[in-house]
Amino acid sequence: MTMSVSRRRFAMGVPTLLAASALPTVAWAQAAPSGNFLPQPSGENSLDIIAAERLAIRSKAVLEPGAWEYIHGAAGSEWTLRANRLALDLLAFNPGRMAGFSEADTTSELLGQQVAAPFFVCPMGGQDFAHEDADLASVRGAGAARIPYMLSGASNKSMEQVAKEAPADLLRIFAIYLNTDREVNWKLARRARAAGYRAIVMTVDSLGPGTSNRYIAMGSPKTAAAGFGNFDPARGGTGNFRDLKRDFDPADIAMLKEASGLPVMVKGLLRTEDAQRAVAAGAAGVVVSNHGGRTLDGSIPSIDALPGIVRAVGQRVPVLFDSGVRRGVDALRALALGATSVGIGRPVMDAMALGGGKGVADLLNWFRNDLATQMLLVGAKTIGDISPELLVRTDYTDATDRDLLTHELP
Ligand code: FNR
Repeated sequence: MTMSVSRRRFAMGVPTLLAASALPTVAWAQAAPSGNFLPQPSGENSLDIIAAERLAIRSKAVLEPGAWEYIHGAAGSEWTLRANRLALDLLAFNPGRMAGFSEADTTSELLGQQVAAPFFVCPMGGQDFAHEDADLASVRGAGAARIPYMLSGASNKSMEQVAKEAPADLLRIFAIYLNTDREVNWKLARRARAAGYRAIVMTVDSLGPGTSNRYIAMGSPKTAAAGFGNFDPARGGTGNFRDLKRDFDPADIAMLKEASGLPVMVKGLLRTEDAQRAVAAGAAGVVVSNHGGRTLDGSIPSIDALPGIVRAVGQRVPVLFDSGVRRGVDALRALALGATSVGIGRPVMDAMALGGGKGVADLLNWFRNDLATQMLLVGAKTIGDISPELLVRTDYTDATDRDLLTHELP
């Protein structure tokens, strides 16, 4: 594999905007020394993937430490980051046998569109930490693998550029971070429709400081190219991404629907009552997520929130899920608990760092193949056959059993 890393040097005074997932910025604006710019990987490489988690080790070799920590860090003590994994690992399978098939079919549907597998690429800001082409690389990968793609409202590239980079029939969704300036929201929503996005996701869990301690300790470095691709005063409103709206309420769903004419989903829900309120206010879907542990440290693992939300709204709208998914079995766990589609976050950034769009396509195909293998092994021929009966919630709590959960990466 060849990897080129462009080591540009920039003078002071180039844009210092930084897209972060846990956006807020008070902490980082203070902590970020100016001129602390990171080089970015570039290039396109196919990846031999044994496991997505191994890509995180490999990406360390090509990313600057600050970029790697930005991607892999989480809020606070990172309890939620670890708990996401632990809670998934506590769900064991009781597989069906003699099911009479030799190949599983992962095709499924999202928002009325047939997709290759029940996965989606999570919306992630700051993709230029991972690759010079940033969002263009990840959408190329999603397009090649035919996996739905969510573009972050904090993307480096504009939604129009991203739209051009993907096949026309790729299911693309725009994940908006609402602005305090109503005109900005209105314009973003209209642009999303005009650029062929099929839905809008409103992220509601990124409300305040959540920037990882590890990243701050690295001096909160940024890339010289960083900027917010969709924010431009020339397109209406203040154009300042940092003016984030925090006082969300159900009326925001109606506003986005009216502005865009598109289905609107809400991302970052963990409480059943919040999902009910969102759907009552017209949401066309919910994304059960704790932002991969990047916002409230100490929030419950997303997977623990999933069954209640599925019971409450799953008959009416799709319930998407993310946070901690690293293997096909994790997707199988979430699907068994009623998820419609399963999001992949950090591994996409690792794949981009190592292989650009090709790397992302290889990763998504790896997830699809791994899911198909696990479906065969549990006796589920189609996505519709994946049911809660396959799962047993274990409670490994004594010291010996705990070794099952904390182990070296195989
Ligand atoms: C994110 N996430 C995120 N979510 C969102 O709605 N808008 C955003 O801009 C971002 N930005 C972002 C940047 C980075 C670097 C990461 C890792 C994550 C959260 C993301 O969509 C998703 O919820 C989690 O990443 C899922 O967890 P895993 O798969 O990373 O464990």
